[in-house]
Amino acid sequence: MRVKNLKRQASDISALLHESSNKKQEVLDCYLYQNVTSTHKALTCSLSALIPIMNHFQYKNGELFCEDVPVSEIAKELGTPFYLYSKATLTRHFNAFDTSFDGVDHLTCFAVKSCSNIAILSLFGNLGGGADIVSGGELFRALKAGVDPKRIIYSGVGKTEEELRYGLKSGILLFNVESEQELCRLNNVAGDMGVKAPVAFRVNPDVDAKTHAYISTGLAKNKFGIPINEAPDLYLQAEGMANIEVKGVSCHIGSQLTLISPFIETLQKLKDLVGLLADNGISIQYIDLGGGVGIVYDDENPPHPKEYAEAIKDELGGLDVTLIFEPGRVIVGNAGIMVTEVQYTKTNRGGDKEKHFVVVDAGMNDLTRPSLYGSFHGVQPVKEANYTSQVVDIVGPICETGDFIAKDRDFPDVEQGDLLAVMSAGAYGFTMASNYNSRPRVAEVMVAGDTFKIIRLRETMDQLIRGESIPDFLEK
Ligand code: LLP
Repeated sequence: MRVKNLKRQASDISALLHESSNKKQEVLDCYLYQNVTSTHKALTCSLSALIPIMNHFQYKNGELFCEDVPVSEIAKELGTPFYLYSKATLTRHFNAFDTSFDGVDHLTCFAVKSCSNIAILSLFGNLGGGADIVSGGELFRALKAGVDPKRIIYSGVGKTEEELRYGLKSGILLFNVESEQELCRLNNVAGDMGVKAPVAFRVNPDVDAKTHAYISTGLAKNKFGIPINEAPDLYLQAEGMANIEVKGVSCHIGSQLTLISPFIETLQKLKDLVGLLADNGISIQYIDLGGGVGIVYDDENPPHPKEYAEAIKDELGGLDVTLIFEPGRVIVGNAGIMVTEVQYTKTNRGGDKEKHFVVVDAGMNDLTRPSLYGSFHGVQPVKEANYTSQVVDIVGPICETGDFIAKDRDFPDVEQGDLLAVMSAGAYGFTMASNYNSRPRVAEVMVAGDTFKIIRLRETMDQLIRGESIPDFLEK
């Protein structure tokens, strides 16, 4: 299915490459967002011949490279598993998103939750980006990375008093307030501090994002935001509060969207709200459309940021506001991989059935997405393997049957010690990792050209028990 899809893409691309050089660039940008290296070698080769720089995880002489560094060289120095990010891909994806909105006032606030390493936040900060945060911890990271507080927006349904105070003290751009109680709490905290809190209300537009149920956030039954038809009353209430400054309206309807229409439906509803507020003398400076643009993990067909941007600009018309975006996955998803090593291969037999397993040294604690959402991640050998293959489950060492990276995958024959690359792992990979089964969290590495740097050390055993103690009353 995937191979068929890619063949179709290859012929589309080759047709398009005959057109003007502008068009060529568009094609390159378009396909850069896709993870095509997880397929059959011959096909990958023919595609790479057509598109010189599709992404920065490429095979050269049968070996997977990240930019100009062989992935195996990093593994040799660091051991496995580790997350690996390409600076060139991160930069290119950020710029592709951000420049799609050239011509309209806008701010791209990277969703810190998707990939929160301070090196990555600092890269986007230097490219002119801001940060979308959802906790005091994320605010701390963004500030440590040097992100301008005037480009930080604070989303989330459950901000504590302490977190609100931290945000106010730091002078962030906006609080995306999600309930009347939060508004009152923010007004009180700001009053105590003698400041005014800049506020946007996150509204729930009751729009179906048509994505996985766990990451769909814009339906009335979801916990997020304020029902859009109750918002006008809350705006009026806020206008009367001494320590609140009403500035914007925000929303985020879900993640990994492959359709543009839910975004547009949402924007229409936000525009109606902004119009209604204007009629009541409340002027809105910012419209925050959240994140959510999807990427290719397998055979999805999400919009390119350019298409997304064009549709939004069209719908916006001449409305005089600054747009805010909170993209995460579309920027980092295909800019990072996880590298793991085969520990064992085994076959379990019962009756006339047999099941082949590739046991690797990364588990559901290191990459949770397959277990939690049933998500697909391409997996490929770091050294191109021979072409005999069999159907396998690629599983981790965790003591749960739900611990898998890939299921029923037609996979080249691999052996103990082989390195595997788990593709499209840059978003919600490391950030969702845990210490389950007392496994130290893995290292993170960034490549820039022909050099690589560890941007987070592998955790040590001592760090595993940091903060733990055995109380006196347990002493023998
Ligand atoms: N803004 C808000 C308020 C959000 O809640 C999110 C993601 C984003 C922006 C960024 O969305 P993105 O552009 O990355 O789609 N762990 C899940 C994804 C959870 C998304 C949560 N919110 C996964 O691994 O698929």
